[in-house]
Amino acid sequence: MRSIQEAKEEWEATFDAIEDAIFLIDETFTIQRANKGLAKLVGKNLTDIIGQKCYKLLHDIDHVPKFCLRPLLVKTFSYQSNELWEPHLNRYLQINCYPIIGAKKEVREVIHVIRDITERQKTLQELEYLASVVRHSQDAIISTDLNCQITSWNKAAERIFGYDGKEAVGNYMDIIIPEEQRKKCQLFVEEIGEGGGIENYETTRKTKDGKSIDVDLTLSPIKESEGDIIGVSFIARDVTYQKQLEAKLIQAQKMESIGTLAGGIAHDFNNLLMGIQGYASLMLLKTDPLHPHYEMLRKIEEQVQSASDLTKQLLGFARGGRYETKPTNFNELIHRSSEMFGRTKKEIVIHSKLEKDLWTVEVDQGQMEQVLLNLYVNAWHAMPGGGNLYLETSNVTLNESYVKPYDLEAGNYIKISVTDTGIGMDKKTKQRIFDPFFTTKEMGRGTGLGLASVYGIITNHKGIITVYSEKDYGTKFNIYLPVCEKAITPPTRIVSDKILKGAETILLVDDEEQVIDTTKQMLEYMGYMVLSARGGKEALVLYQDNRDRIDLVILDLIMPGTNGGEVYNQMKALNPDVRVILSSGYSLNDEASEVFKRGANAFIQKPFSIVELSYKIREVIDGISLSPMHM
Ligand SMILES: Nc1ncnc2c1ncn2[C@@H]1O[C@H](COP(=O)(O)OP(=O)(O)OP(=O)(O)O)[C@@H](O)[C@H]1O
Ligand SMILES: [Mg+2]
Repeated sequence: MRSIQEAKEEWEATFDAIEDAIFLIDETFTIQRANKGLAKLVGKNLTDIIGQKCYKLLHDIDHVPKFCLRPLLVKTFSYQSNELWEPHLNRYLQINCYPIIGAKKEVREVIHVIRDITERQKTLQELEYLASVVRHSQDAIISTDLNCQITSWNKAAERIFGYDGKEAVGNYMDIIIPEEQRKKCQLFVEEIGEGGGIENYETTRKTKDGKSIDVDLTLSPIKESEGDIIGVSFIARDVTYQKQLEAKLIQAQKMESIGTLAGGIAHDFNNLLMGIQGYASLMLLKTDPLHPHYEMLRKIEEQVQSASDLTKQLLGFARGGRYETKPTNFNELIHRSSEMFGRTKKEIVIHSKLEKDLWTVEVDQGQMEQVLLNLYVNAWHAMPGGGNLYLETSNVTLNESYVKPYDLEAGNYIKISVTDTGIGMDKKTKQRIFDPFFTTKEMGRGTGLGLASVYGIITNHKGIITVYSEKDYGTKFNIYLPVCEKAITPPTRIVSDKILKGAETILLVDDEEQVIDTTKQMLEYMGYMVLSARGGKEALVLYQDNRDRIDLVILDLIMPGTNGGEVYNQMKALNPDVRVILSSGYSLNDEASEVFKRGANAFIQKPFSIVELSYKIREVIDGISLSPMHM
């Protein structure tokens, strides 16, 4: 039989072997017995612990704390427990109290079993912190098992994909994966199952309402504590907006560099054409219509017209290529251009739905007609067997988020839609249509400059152009142009090819020999007195000496040395009422086009015909608005 001593030792060894702190207190809260676990928890010797007040030892206070479990335990005679942070020990404690009932059915002593739960608590807090990061992440964070069945779905996933957590969890990832990508996704998941990972993979996903969005995906394995892979975590960032922005930026940069090149070519080319046009016009004027050369000369003029249409396209997407803007009712432009177009293309049925009180826009009318004509011709090409062309206008207000990617101001715009029921485009074609020289038409049918110039003209007018197209169904172009507050000045249209004559004195300034030569002869034919200068300096000297005689100056904008802009400023200083027609093949620098804004009377684009020039001159000298350009 074991001795009492042996039993005591065995009991004490058991008591001390328990890692939890265990101690007994009497009704005065004095510690009667304790194990080594308590000594370890409070960092004292067992001998110093016995006889101490428990609240002093554990909480370092001199009174029974409010959270003490003993009063409740005495009342209920049953086990009590709580968890608390003990700053004095710098630990989280779980306190369990058990009553020892005495002979008189009173609580004689209370056993405390205290477990140090600091580590567990810290892990819990970390988990909560992580959960909060996941909850508040801007990226969609989704977890699935290895069969792609969704196990968690955060708030951002709800926002990005449109399904709420209840709909998504338990469902399969297929709900957001486009059909054609499922196989690939399956391969990814298999790869992850074998321990791999995928980072920053750009692809598309679909939302609940069927929209396709661009996402950047990162996939990684979810492991159990033993290291077994039990699922996949998906982090998806919605990069749709970013991609759009990037594409627009690339487009803008591309257009800018090609535009500079195009502008340079157009400028030189237009000066050459001016010479050809001028000489042909002059010869025509002096040739009897019955002469065999007469028709050939007309053909030359026609060819120059075609060449000049080509350079006009180039100028469209050249930087700053926007000159004579006028407050305009866009409906009239559509009306006029579509009527002209419809007359020649009988197989196309034009449906117009124009807003009655369309807001006014300030535009270069010639360029806008070019825009519309390009769109009509493209639509016509897209409908080889005929079809419907819908032209619509409306007043719209664009908000900040709509205009932001275009770096434009929110506010009132007019919207112009040109829609056809033609062959449409696939995605790849659609991405490239605004590129200069991109064409899907056979050699000789298209140059690929049409939409590039449309894009250039619209962006030069601080507008927006968008395209929607469905292969085999048709295409819709939407154009937005900012509204202007100015009133419309209706032009007096004289449709005739009669040359208007005059007898005033004109100072002609240009650095190109053949331009001076032909223009001078044209002006003299019209009856004017002509002074000519081959450069800015010479022009200023001539102007100073003949100021009172000169009724009008025709001034080339781009010349070496003193350029047109400077000449204009100095003439204006000498005579604030000086009348000037600016002429150019193209304005390369912004300063030059500023001149027009500073009050030059008119602008004439080279190459110009004698009729055009004669109208411009009368317009400026007589102060009326004529328009021979859209005959
Ligand atoms: N309405 C449309 N329907 C279908 N495809 C179109 C439409 N408009 C343009 N495209 C496509 O965009 C391409 C580029 O058009 P763009 O007007 O710039 O050049 P183009 O018409 O080919 O030649 P150009 O206008 O210089 O004579 C076209 O070749 C065509 O593939
Ligand atoms: Mg075209």
